[in-house]
Amino acid sequence: MHGGDARPAASPLPGAPGLREGRAPLRQNRRMDTTTSEPLSPLLLVTGASRGIGAACARLAAAAGWTVAVNYASRADAAQALVREIEAQGGRAFALQADVADDAQVRRLFDALDREAVARGLRLRGLVNNAGVVDVAARVDAMDAARLQRMFAVNVFGSFHCAREALRRMSTRHGGTGGSIVNLSSSAARTGGAGQYVDYAASKGAIDTFTVGLAREVADEGVRVNAVRPGVTDTEIHASGGQPGRAWELAPQIPLRRPGRADEIAQAVLWLLSDAASYTTGALLDVSGGR
Ligand SMILES: NC(=O)c1ccc[n+]([C@@H]2O[C@H](COP(=O)([O-])OP(=O)(O)OC[C@H]3O[C@@H](n4cnc5c(N)ncnc54)[C@H](OP(=O)(O)O)[C@@H]3O)[C@@H](O)[C@H]2O)c1
Repeated sequence: MHGGDARPAASPLPGAPGLREGRAPLRQNRRMDTTTSEPLSPLLLVTGASRGIGAACARLAAAAGWTVAVNYASRADAAQALVREIEAQGGRAFALQADVADDAQVRRLFDALDREAVARGLRLRGLVNNAGVVDVAARVDAMDAARLQRMFAVNVFGSFHCAREALRRMSTRHGGTGGSIVNLSSSAARTGGAGQYVDYAASKGAIDTFTVGLAREVADEGVRVNAVRPGVTDTEIHASGGQPGRAWELAPQIPLRRPGRADEIAQAVLWLLSDAASYTTGALLDVSGGR
């Protein structure tokens, strides 16, 4: 696990949740009172933020005033480049490596997050469970156990591991002051992925159920839990499934006649994270061009 370094920036502009009961939401452009022990900036962890939708979430969140922990699996170069880009725009971010499928690594990730939070005067207020994988196109009758283990370990167990650790820091039940979790599901949870990746689609179906159940479980603990279900989005994930051209090849099947952009998905994630969505929990928000 590698902690990146980030210069302090002067941008206390949280579009972040002000969730302590009876307390006014944080307003944009409001400077924090430095004479109190209030955190200077809310901290957001985005898993799988080195590329694609996660990176777009990190960019938008930093612009909205969050300090962003940029988690990645192996592409340290991409994660560090994103941190530098955010800092160059006046935002705050740092990179942390961890494989979310590995519970021990997730525990170490949150230990590192705690250390950064203490050092920088931050409080964890948000989690975006974005890290996810696909595999090459295959029918179910050709899927072996190793493929299924990896698919569910990253896409499902990883989200559970990270949510558990985030809740232990954000839930009022555990002494936290609240927060918001957004899970990345997929329109595949509705369509099923027949002939290509039923395993992936089923893992996202699990994320939908996880979102609804967890939202109800922690609703009175100051934590909202929602999911965004992107449709086909133009990122590198399709190349990792052996179909680099897939996003645009599917364009004719999409009512809006094009794949989504990562920043269009991130806009929905940022809304769900923010106080603007203060009455929204357990929602599954389709951002899929009408498909
Ligand atoms: N793109 C689409 O069409 C689409 C549609 C619906 C839903 N989604 C969902 O949206 C999310 C993001 O997708 P994307 O298209 O942006 O993917 P992507 O471009 O392939 O990026 C995946 C990101 O996840 C990270 N990652 C992969 N495995 C990880 C692990 N075990 N632990 C930690 N990080 C890990 C990668 O880190 P490294 O860079 O270090 O490898 C990378 O930052 C996924 O959950 C995906 O299922 C995508």
